[in-house]
Amino acid sequence: MKPLTFTNNKGDFKLSQAENISSLYFPLASEIGLKSAVTPNLGGDAKINQDTFLLEPVSVDNLHNNRSTRNFWVRDNNGNVFSVTGASAQQEALRFSNKEEENSVEAGFMWHKIERTAANMPLKSTITSFVPRDENVEIMLVTLENLSDTDQKLTAYGAVPIFGRSADNIRDHRNVTSMLHRIKTTDEGVLVCPTMSFDERGHQLNHQIYYILGFDDKEKTPKTFYPTVETFIGEGGTFTHPAAVYKDIEGVTADTHINGREAMGAFKFETFTLAASQSKTFILLMGINDKEKAIQTVAEKYKNLATVEKALQETKDYWQEKVGVDFKTGDSDFDSYMKWVCFQPFLRRLFGCSFLPHHDYGRGGRGWRDLWQDCLSLLLMEPKTVGDMIINNYKGVRLDGTNATIIGDGDGNFIADRNGITRVWMDHALWPLMTTKLYIDQTGDVDILTKEVSYFKDPHVKRGTEIDQDWNDNYGNEQRTSDNSVYTGSILEHLLIQHLTGFYEVGDHNIYRLRGADWNDALDMANDNGESVAFTAAYSGNLMDLASLIRLLESQTGTDSVEILEEIGLLLKNDSDIFDNIKRKHQILEAYTNQCRHNVTGRKIRIPLSELALNLIQKAAWLRQHLQKQEWLDFDEHEGCYNSYYDNSGKPTDGYYNDRMHMMLTGQVFPIMNFVATDEQIRKITASADHYLYRQEIGGYRLNTDFKEIKTDLGRMFGFAYGEKENGAVFSHMTVMYANALYRRGFAKEGWKALKTLADTALNFETSRIYPGIPEYFRADGRGVYHYLTGAASWYMLTMVTEAFGVHGKAGDLVLYPKLLAEQFDDKRRASITVQFADKTFHIHYDNPNQKDFGKYIIKKAVCDNQEIDITDDAFAFITKDKLTELSDDTHEIIITLA
Ligand code: G1P
Repeated sequence: MKPLTFTNNKGDFKLSQAENISSLYFPLASEIGLKSAVTPNLGGDAKINQDTFLLEPVSVDNLHNNRSTRNFWVRDNNGNVFSVTGASAQQEALRFSNKEEENSVEAGFMWHKIERTAANMPLKSTITSFVPRDENVEIMLVTLENLSDTDQKLTAYGAVPIFGRSADNIRDHRNVTSMLHRIKTTDEGVLVCPTMSFDERGHQLNHQIYYILGFDDKEKTPKTFYPTVETFIGEGGTFTHPAAVYKDIEGVTADTHINGREAMGAFKFETFTLAASQSKTFILLMGINDKEKAIQTVAEKYKNLATVEKALQETKDYWQEKVGVDFKTGDSDFDSYMKWVCFQPFLRRLFGCSFLPHHDYGRGGRGWRDLWQDCLSLLLMEPKTVGDMIINNYKGVRLDGTNATIIGDGDGNFIADRNGITRVWMDHALWPLMTTKLYIDQTGDVDILTKEVSYFKDPHVKRGTEIDQDWNDNYGNEQRTSDNSVYTGSILEHLLIQHLTGFYEVGDHNIYRLRGADWNDALDMANDNGESVAFTAAYSGNLMDLASLIRLLESQTGTDSVEILEEIGLLLKNDSDIFDNIKRKHQILEAYTNQCRHNVTGRKIRIPLSELALNLIQKAAWLRQHLQKQEWLDFDEHEGCYNSYYDNSGKPTDGYYNDRMHMMLTGQVFPIMNFVATDEQIRKITASADHYLYRQEIGGYRLNTDFKEIKTDLGRMFGFAYGEKENGAVFSHMTVMYANALYRRGFAKEGWKALKTLADTALNFETSRIYPGIPEYFRADGRGVYHYLTGAASWYMLTMVTEAFGVHGKAGDLVLYPKLLAEQFDDKRRASITVQFADKTFHIHYDNPNQKDFGKYIIKKAVCDNQEIDITDDAFAFITKDKLTELSDDTHEIIITLA
């Protein structure tokens, strides 16, 4: 039997002896800030942001030592002690022996349950943990069941150390910051309100109160309290062998005040008798709030068992409903897996990239790229909210085409980068258009292009190469005109600036400069001469897409011209001789960025949409043929690939040199996706990728071959061991984009192979050792790491919905064009998907009676609610936007027969 099994079709799963697997963790979060991670022994931490950690911050590398965290203890009349989380020295010592305690983890969206049978007393226990969606409190529901046929006299203790400060103080001023603690016990538990938030750049008065409260199932509060670590563990004690429990030491009473010590949310309940086969439940509330009154309200509400049970159910239902996409194929494990993939974008929106034990970068929040990518999947799950989000996000674009990289709370809130590390990621301008295009396709709202928003302004000008000395805080973060008013321009104008500036910023090979890096953050050492062929290909596609959106705007709204900032005229020079002239390109960019150093004129010029579109198409077409001519490497008659980069020494990365073949996946993905690669070239690329990059047992396509050199002229990735992270791991995000590119070009079999290998590896628990979902990457040994928080999830979901199942919008029309393979249909030869489109729910079934692969079938018949729908000559079924509005607002069923 598989170690990890799904228990239903909602994605819920169960894993026995989970504690015997290292570095497992599970996310729990509210929508208003609290973010928790729990391990099979309830290790992990809980926080609101970098400065507000309830539990001591942990990284994956100290997760196995991490005991300054949640625990719940039981002591019987004979002095036997049992940790319900399994975190006692005694229980740990049973591991790997034949006396190991039986235990398991069961979990689903935003809930986690551990079950354990004690070895030294007849007790079975469960702890269910969850965070209600609208409250900053983590709830632990602890149940003890008497397995014997006689009464047991037991005493229970809740025990959770309260860190109560910034993650920065994990080492810096660790002891000093405990002196800020003001600790008090109330009837219900322990509250800590540090006097200040310690920061030598400027200490701040603190108002956050960190608390741990406890109740039994009769709403009875604890009897005595251990509000400091010292009183709980005792001299010489540890969190896994605390004196308070083992030596049965009395605590202090309610309303005790202690200042300046490491705090502990620990307390003892009244001793009770548990009759044979009876159960008793306790509730622990762990949270953060800046008002004591609000904590009282939380306590009043959740001290009641029935309320907690109801809140648990509501939490489960809420997140199930949020993930409004459902797959049904011939492989039910894959379908359950997809539940988690579709849930992950929500997790990334809540956790950012910094707040699970594998934390990537930063001190909270998400990066620019992540912001836009998360919108992709949200568009498929809750499209209504995304329009405003998109509009607001454009406020982060600077007039020089770069953008803010520090993102504040709430939509459209970007923060000035004052620390002077200006880094321009050359791929950043790419993602907003991709997301906006999907938005327009799904909704038909092409008018979004004409919405006016401001531009971001901070001291960085001329694409991160100079500082605007005239800018200061009083100026603010919105670009102004010479008369000091805030300048606004249409979203279309923002897109034009982003795409036109990049076109002129080229290196010696007339390829877009790499600058600080591109999608691959670890290509960060080639700022001067590095060039990204991969993303030049991506931009060529984007220019084409932007041109077609402009045409759509023209045809759908009857508008024939738009106003744009006068200065942009420079970038629209319609002289194709410039394209080959690197020097001229630089001059044009220089002239433009000089004009928008500080303020702009604010004057606008009017330009016909058709002219704009043509201008972009010319640039895109030139790029395409330039790449084809210059960057294709033919290995032999079966294999070949695109060069991906030029390093800082001006040398290409891909191809045969230093006695080995070099190949990078990124350089293949974007030429395929954006019609730079011809079909013949795609065949050669896939053959080469299979030859040089594919390793089935560790997830499939690796990011690159082993260069066997520490390339200081390209990036830090070459310092990582081969097979780790950006240096040749199977990096899910790029693998998924490879699949997406292949599907777009009709290479469904090859695309599915990339996706399927990722899913199979993730679900093969023996290798991946992760809970269901897509990790950021698979290590060299196949272990999945940096779980949950990856842009790969959005792209995986997008590819499954819009490409494999072929359900996508086209200017608001619903198009159905499945690229499914025979193996994806169930035993009734049906594959189904549930999606949201045009504010309605669609259950879409594809019937494939002859079990044919994509390419061998066409759509023979299509019906929606028993009414035939149109099929085009090239085998699409579709429902127009107008017909969609005529449909009622509820659920509809589409059945499509393939033949
Ligand atoms: C991460 C980062 C992403 C970056 C990528 C590659 O993970 O979050 O911004 O582009 O590494 O360096 P991802 O979200 O792509 O899985």
